[in-house]
Order: sequence, then C-alpha cells, then structure tokens
Amino acid sequence: MDHLLTTPAIAQGLRKVETRIHKLSASSMLPGITQGVDHVVTAGGKRLRPALALATALALGRAPDRRVITAAACVELIHTGSLVHDDLMDQATQRRGIRTLNADVGDDKALVIGDFMLAKAGLAAITSVSKPVAEVLAATVVELAEGQYLETADLFNRERTQESALRSITGKTAALFRAACLVGALCANASPEDRARMAEYGEKFGLIFQILDDLLDLTASEESLGKPVGNDLRQGVYSFPVLLSGVDVTLTRGMTAEQVAEALDRLRASTMVRDTVEYCRGLAADAVAALPVIHDAELADLLYGLPSAYIARFAATP
Ligand code: IPE
Ligand code: IPE
Ligand code: MG
Ligand code: MG
Repeated sequence: MDHLLTTPAIAQGLRKVETRIHKLSASSMLPGITQGVDHVVTAGGKRLRPALALATALALGRAPDRRVITAAACVELIHTGSLVHDDLMDQATQRRGIRTLNADVGDDKALVIGDFMLAKAGLAAITSVSKPVAEVLAATVVELAEGQYLETADLFNRERTQESALRSITGKTAALFRAACLVGALCANASPEDRARMAEYGEKFGLIFQILDDLLDLTASEESLGKPVGNDLRQGVYSFPVLLSGVDVTLTRGMTAEQVAEALDRLRASTMVRDTVEYCRGLAADAVAALPVIHDAELADLLYGLPSAYIARFAATP
C-alpha cells in the first residue's frame, strides 16, 4: 500500500487531486460548507481510492491529465462524504485523528455537508470528466446507500448470514474501490474487457479492505486503532469475520464492557483470524487473476502485489 502511495507518478497526481478537491469545496457560496469539507479533507486519510484511480489510468497508458485528476478527486469526495454520513449514523466522535463533523458542527450541518460532497462529486464528473464516469459514480452512490441500509437493517440480527454481510460490504465499500479502478480505466479509453477486469480487481480489493478493517475492530489494540475496539459488536454489527468464525455471539443493545470483552475473548480464541486471512487470500488471488495485461512493469508489479502486500501487512500485526 505504501508503495502505491509513494510511486512518484501517483504521488504527484495525488497532490493535484488535493488541489482539485479544495477548489471543489471552495465552490460553495457558503463559507461554512467550505470549512466543513476542508476540515474533514485536510485531516488526512490515506487517499487509497484516488491512488487506485490514478494507478489504473497510468497502468492502461494514460498520463494523469486534468480529467483523470478530477475523476480521482470525485472518488475521494464521495468516500469522504460517505464517511461524514457514516460517522453521523454511528454517532462517532473521532475520525482521521480529529473530531468528526457531527461532533464538531452538529448532526444537521454534518448531514448536509455530506450531501454537498456527494452531489458536488456528481456535478464535477458530469461537467469536467465525462458522462460515463459520472454515471459510474452516481451508480456507486446508489450502491453505497444500499450497502449502508443493509447493514442498518441487520443490526442485532442473530440470523445474519455471511452472504448478507458480503452483500452489505460490497455496496458500502467494494463498490467505490471498483468505481475508482473503473473510472481510471474509462479515462484511459480502455477496452470494455480491460474495464471489466479492472473493475473486478477493484471490487475484490475493496472487499479485502473492508473485511480486514472489520477484523481489526475485533483484534487490534485500542492504541493502534485510535478508537475503542469492539465498536461493531457494541453497535450490533455481526461483521463478516464474526460470521465466518462460527462463534455463537449474541449482541444486544446496551451491552456492558464485560460482555463485549467476553465476546472479543471468545472470537480471538477461535479460528477467526486464520479463517478471515485465508478468505482474503482467496479474494486476492481472484483480484490478480482479473488484472488485464499491463505493459508498464512498475505499475504491473504494483497492482499485482497490492492485495497480498495489504494482507501480509495485516497478518504481521499482532
Ligand atoms: C475507512 O476507509 C472506511 C472503510 C471502508 C473501512 P479508509 O481507511 O480508506 O479511510 P481514510 O480515507 O484513510 O480515512
Ligand atoms: C465506513 O464503514 C463507511 C462506509 C464504507 C460508507 P465502517 O463504519 O465499517 O467503517 P469505520 O470503522 O467507521 O471507519
Ligand atoms: Mg463507522
Ligand atoms: Mg458504519
């Protein structure tokens, strides 16, 4: 992952993406909205999705011109807008090391600032990129909403299935990774086959990303996570690793700290970590099998190595 973000052509493109995002946020007539967007955007974030859009365009032979940069900026705006809404839904107070917008300016303003980001991304894509890219992004926002809805609908549902959890994370997370690769491929005028291949790669990597994020919530330490562990359990989310583990946990509203700790202990003592990492290795194999022929050796190595490097990094974390 570090390699993706530090490859010179991608790092240079990402700097332009930042400038583009700030221009888009400054295009509101309302300073409060611009400040709100800048607050969450400048707080950090790994920029993984725009980096994937840039890497895909480069891998398929397109230099990161203005259209590619704008498309990547739109992808990050959608991601950040969805985080603003997610934090509001989760009543979270910390994100990217700072206070969330809902904690900072209140739920009502956070709600509309999130709306602004999602809508602005669509508008910028249609006016400054292309109709196909705008269509992909709009469809992705639909999937995001559906994925988040499914998660909400299954809170505290002991009958939640692995398939149901996968369907939710495909919508709420993998769809945007898929879109990042797809818009990169569209900007590169790739063939329909190469577009489909890159989309598949992005989706599989996105699933790995969310599943390992869910696993970290159950296994990491509070210091390394920067927030309390077991948040998903507390909120009633039977996440994919929990379902895969087969451990019989019962989540109820208002669980005590002891009850959460006890569930975490049982999950950690099970084969959950091993099974989840194994499952992700399967997804990584599918992701790289989907990749098209990439002539640039550096970018080919980068994209081939990314899913397994991401898993290895995680698997090395105690
Ligand atoms: C957080 O995504 C939300 C998930 C899909 C787990 P990231 O971990 O990419 O968030 P930032 O952009 O780096 O803050
Ligand atoms: C992040 O999901 C939000 C979206 C993918 C839209 P989570 O709720 O699983 O992630 P964190 O833990 O808040 O980052
Ligand atoms: Mg959340
Ligand atoms: Mg959430």
